[in-house]
Amino acid sequence: MKNIIITGASRGIGYDAAILLARQGHRVLALSRNEESLKALKAEAGERLDFLAFDLLQPDAEALIGKVKPMERVDILINNAGYLLKKPFEEITATDWNRVFGVNFLGPAHLVQLLRPYLERSERAHILNIGSMGGYQGSAKFPGLLGYSASKAAIANLTECLAEEWKEKNVACNCLCLGAVQTEMLAEAFPGFQAPVSAARMGAFITYFATEGHHFFNGKVLPVSVSTP
Ligand SMILES: NC(=O)c1ccc[n+]([C@@H]2O[C@H](COP(=O)([O-])OP(=O)(O)OC[C@H]3O[C@@H](n4cnc5c(N)ncnc54)[C@H](OP(=O)(O)O)[C@@H]3O)[C@@H](O)[C@H]2O)c1
Repeated sequence: MKNIIITGASRGIGYDAAILLARQGHRVLALSRNEESLKALKAEAGERLDFLAFDLLQPDAEALIGKVKPMERVDILINNAGYLLKKPFEEITATDWNRVFGVNFLGPAHLVQLLRPYLERSERAHILNIGSMGGYQGSAKFPGLLGYSASKAAIANLTECLAEEWKEKNVACNCLCLGAVQTEMLAEAFPGFQAPVSAARMGAFITYFATEGHHFFNGKVLPVSVSTP
């Protein structure tokens, strides 16, 4: 039984992954802003799941640590929350940059810093960052997704660097760069495109990788895609 924190659990991939992890018997703390959706998640996931309404752009560290302290240690942190910015480069404002990098890079980085003492208490902890094929070097790129893709490239790079910095600690860090998955975010990014993978199926894969992947990988940025986009 692992103690797991997952962000972006109110819908999409994170919702399905959180349910599965709780049903597998892990102790799950689910984070996202929408408290009503988190209540619905808990109703479906059951006893093993607790939740906290948490905004990555305005993190309430005290409230988070209040939930984490009784867990004593964190074995797995899944940085799954994401914000899609879809705008041509020349129209991107300072607010847009702050938001896209805030949710996709600075928020997860801050979360890792906050949780470090709890991750270090795990026998073998895993930080799993959810990136995107858009942020994977050499992949196909799409107009309007520059800000989003750059923020995902940043989290992929953080993954490699953090694994190096923390290689003496018992904390592994990996990044999965997802291809198209059928969620609200995909519908916004590529209207009308039918993804070959459902949120439930990707949620199941992430669940497996989060609990097992760090025994095989550390500091790895891995493409997880069967289509373009
Ligand atoms: N779907 C795809 O095709 C695809 C492809 C590549 C990568 N990805 C990545 O996979 C991850 C999951 O994507 P998805 O498709 O499941 O997305 P989604 O359905 O749009 O869900 C995004 C999640 O992020 C949370 N979130 C957004 N802003 C937040 C904030 N400021 N603070 C806290 N939580 C916030 C949302 O919760 P609240 O609104 O309740 O806060 C929601 O739970 C993301 O990192 C995404 O970039 C997805």
